[in-house]
This record gives sequence, structure tokens and C-alpha cells, in this order.
Amino acid sequence: MISAAAPVIDKVPAGRSHSDAGSTRAERLLARFHQARNFTNALCANLEPEDFVVQSMPDVSPTKWHLAHTTWFFETFILKKFVSGYHAEVPEYAYLFNSYYNAAGDMHRRDLRGLISRPTVKEAKRYRSSIDAHMDNLLSDADENLIDEIEPILILGFHHEQQHQELLITDIKHVFAQNPLCPVFREGRARPLVAPKISTDGSVIRPYHFVHFDEATVQIGHDGNGFAYDNESPRHRALLSAFSLASRPVTNGEYLQFIEDGGYARAELWLSLGWMTVNEQHWQAPLYWVKRDGAWWNFTLSGFRPVDESEPVTHVSYFEADAYANWAGARLPTELEWERAASDCPVEGNFVENEAFHPRPAPASGQGRDLHQMFGDVWEWTNTTESSCATSTSCGVAPALRRALIFAEPTATFSRLRNAGNSPEFGWRAIRNNSVGRNRRARSERKSHDDCELHNGSAARSWRTTGKF
Ligand SMILES: [Fe+2]
Repeated sequence: MISAAAPVIDKVPAGRSHSDAGSTRAERLLARFHQARNFTNALCANLEPEDFVVQSMPDVSPTKWHLAHTTWFFETFILKKFVSGYHAEVPEYAYLFNSYYNAAGDMHRRDLRGLISRPTVKEAKRYRSSIDAHMDNLLSDADENLIDEIEPILILGFHHEQQHQELLITDIKHVFAQNPLCPVFREGRARPLVAPKISTDGSVIRPYHFVHFDEATVQIGHDGNGFAYDNESPRHRALLSAFSLASRPVTNGEYLQFIEDGGYARAELWLSLGWMTVNEQHWQAPLYWVKRDGAWWNFTLSGFRPVDESEPVTHVSYFEADAYANWAGARLPTELEWERAASDCPVEGNFVENEAFHPRPAPASGQGRDLHQMFGDVWEWTNTTESSCATSTSCGVAPALRRALIFAEPTATFSRLRNAGNSPEFGWRAIRNNSVGRNRRARSERKSHDDCELHNGSAARSWRTTGKF
């Protein structure tokens, strides 16, 4: 949501860079606007009208709603504010396509979005095109003073659009997963199917190692460069004890060991609420895993295929990640530990632009201080509640996810917090306290997290108990 605290904005430079020679600031902003909007449209290119309207669970929004809601954002916060005499073509859309923006008025119930057959998909696309045209006109005629006012909101809108691109993909995966025909969202650039133990590129799956960090007082939070949401500020100091973080997220193969060791049947590994959920919902494996003829298969955006043991495990809940960590004699990392480790890593990885639409195995590199997949591929679980963040409009009590950014937005160099909802690929990596002896490893979890750290010994156990409830 747009919060009272102004987001930090990565302003488009007023001057001309080498690559922007010949374009104005308005033109550059418009180019980014259309790039973001067109990518959303491209994600829907292979969908049929019937695909756009299904809401498979309360946390899923129909694709049609995502298209209209992101459009509503620009209409509500830019056109209505900055276009003199602007009149909405369909005023009722303000109610239908608002999500949680209380300051913008009432909104339709989220869990009922799948019951809305009108506007049609065709009309939602027309609405989208119409607002884009209004944005073209506004920015084309805007002077520098007006652009100064619009730019922060516009850039926030770019990132909002990207958030919904991720949600759109996540949601359509859940929609398709309900269909016995196992529809394919996109063939993608999937790797060939291979048997476990050997990654699909033919290399042997290497065990992870731990990268050590000394005790230190570190700077945490947005450093002022580029875009950031308000919950990533202010930058502040934090004292971190020594720890060691796994070099990569937990893999499917490692998680299989947990399953085969009876992980889902051992109450001592689980938090009480997690254990209750395991039994109530009969969890036996990550979401989207199915066992056929003794082998595990996984539903992906590229269809149903055998579980690849070299890939990061995904679609696991916080409880599963935590239980795995217990089993492995490790723990999940805290947000601050993860952030400290990520701060030295380049923003590179398997992003949506690769069109793989699925996490890939970590590169089979050597030892040393290499941390892999800190960006791209998957979200990673931490054991820290979001309420621990300094200031935020979106902080809650859910365990925080550290994001391996799916979208390689050049300016979004900071990992983002996000509520634990139906987010896409979640995994985790292991961590251990430096003071503890030998540890084992980590895992990931059910509904979508990707990176947790493993921890060792009783200290971790009591910390978890304190931290989670
Ligand atoms: Fe939104």
C-alpha cells in the first residue's frame, strides 16, 4: 500500500546519460512504464479467457483482477490526482479493483473476486489500454515540475506492477494445479528431465558448505541508493553474533532425506501449531508434490515432471522449514543475518526475464565465501517476525521472508519483506551459530518460501520458541 511514509525513490536522472541520449526524463519514465505494463501483458499471452477468471483459493486472485488492479493503481494515484477534470470511465472500478488501500475508499472482498464475471476479460484489457493511453498523454505534456511530483508515485507503480506480475504467476500456478489436465503455463526454458542425484545440466550435486561471518556491528536497512519500500528503512546499526550461513538453499534431494526419515511423522521436530497443521491437512511433502509409482513428481509452470533433487525445494511452509532445520540440527537465519550476508552479494541470478519460471540448481562452484542464489530463484524463510522491522506499514507477525528478487529491476537492489501468503517459490538455507560445534543442514518448506538457515543445539531451539510465539 501507499504508506504515510514516503518511499525512497530511484529517480530517473534529469540529465541525459550515454544510453539515454536524445530522450527526455518524461520519455524515459514512459519507456519504463510501458516496459512494466507490456511485461504483464506478455505473461498472459498464452492464457485463455477461462484462465483469467478462476479464484482457486481465498489468497489467489484471478488474473483478470491483477490486470485491472494494477491499472486502477495508476488511475487512482496519478490520473485522478494530476489530470485536471479527469473523470473515470467506470467509477465503480474504484471499489472493485481496490485491494487494501483504505485511504482510497472501500473495496470488494478479496475472497469473492472469483465470483465477478463482469467486467469481462475483454473489458479489463480495454480498461488497461485506456489508462495507458491517458498516462501517455499526461506524461507527454508534463513539464519538469509536474514530473517531479509524478515520478515518485510512478516508480512506486512500476514496482507495484512487478509485485503483481509475481503474484499473477504464483496464482495461475495454483489455479492450474487444481486441474487434472495439468495445464502448462509456459514451456519455458526448462531443462531436460533427469533422474535425481545428477543435476539437469549433468553435473553432480554438490553439498553446501557454510560461510562464516564474525560478530560485528553492521548497518541494516536501505542504504539510500535506488528504490525501497518504507519497511526497508531507516538504516540502522545492529549487533550480530557470529554465524555461518549455508552456501545455497536446501535442495529437493536434501528435503527428500527428511521425508524418508519420517520427518512428517515425528512430533518432536515440529512446533505445536505446525504439528497440528500437518495432521489436519495430512501433509506428507511440499505443496505440488505427488507420489506416483514410488517416485515423487512436482507440478510446475511448465507442467508435471519428476522432482529434480538438485533444485531448491519450494512451496514449503514456515513450519516445514523449521521442522527440517530441527531434523538437520540447524536453524533458520534471522532477517538481519540473511541481510548482512546478502549485502556483499551481486544482484544476479535466475530472474523472471530468463523465462525459466522455475528455480534452478545452484551452480556447482567451489568453496570459499561464495553464497549462491541470494537473489533470484526463490524466497527464503527466516525465523524473524516481520514485527521486528524498524518501521513499516506492512509489518505483521508472520515469519519474514527474505526475497531473492525474481525481477531483476536494476534499482531494486534490496531484498524485500513480504507477508507469508501465497507467494511463489519459497525455500530456505541452513545456518549455524559459530559457537556451536558441528551442524548439519537445512531445508525449505510448503507454501512458498525459499531460504532458511539451519541452526544447531539447544540455544537455537529456545530461541525459536521465543521468537515464534
Ligand atoms: Fe496491489
